[in-house]
Amino acid sequence: MNKLLVNGAELAYRDEGSGQPIIFLHAFPLNQKMWDDQITVLAANYRVITFDWRGFGQSSLGNGISRIDTFADDLAGMMNELSIDRAIVCGLSMGGYAAFAFYRHYSNRVSALILADTRSTADTEEGKRNRYEMAELARSQGSAALVATMVPKLIGETTLRDQAHIAERVKVMIEASQPEGVAQALIAMASRPDSSDLLPQINCPTLIIVGKEDKLTPPAESEKMYEAITGSSLEIIQEAGHLPNIEQTESFNRAVSEFLSKL
Ligand code: MLT
Repeated sequence: MNKLLVNGAELAYRDEGSGQPIIFLHAFPLNQKMWDDQITVLAANYRVITFDWRGFGQSSLGNGISRIDTFADDLAGMMNELSIDRAIVCGLSMGGYAAFAFYRHYSNRVSALILADTRSTADTEEGKRNRYEMAELARSQGSAALVATMVPKLIGETTLRDQAHIAERVKVMIEASQPEGVAQALIAMASRPDSSDLLPQINCPTLIIVGKEDKLTPPAESEKMYEAITGSSLEIIQEAGHLPNIEQTESFNRAVSEFLSKL
């Protein structure tokens, strides 16, 4: 695994193919392996970059995750190291929160956006309390303690019923997460700002994707973003939950490829 030193953390990354750069930002509490099925297909026509957020997968935590902006700064640093000025940015869920933070601070470095299974709104008070509890759980019992509650939320009903191997793949990624990275990311997500004010300012081509059975960031959240971002497109993936890129790979890749072909 290649690694780059970015803002004091060693970030593990993959950089495959050539052409217009597209950077994939992974969800919580997973890692860049969630994008393996996108790399395989898209690297034929694009330069595809994935990386583990600091504190996840094989990236070190460095001096920690203090805010969601830490991720945005790491993405900018990663692009600098890879000599990428502008890129198509695709973030799923927490990756989407990071994409909003990146757009807020570095909009001139975004050529197009893909917002998958994410939301522009901040956490409710109850949502924040749940995050603090989960951070305590990760610190006291390790990341594996998150599997039982997270897997049924991350994966749609249809996938849970028909594709048991996907639950296993997700479980392995969660168990590989570093407890302190998990805890700090939860606290950073709890304090992230509402990005709804940013939506009308987004003026690059934008695709919004959501799994029809997504329980964590339901389609209604995507519909709100679709209405607020001028000229955006919305793709609802059938028989998928929060991780349509894994659950319905072909449909997800088709939606992304069609969007990219029009840029
Ligand atoms: C994710 O998939 O990144 C997380 O579930 C997002 C969240 O907890 O809000």
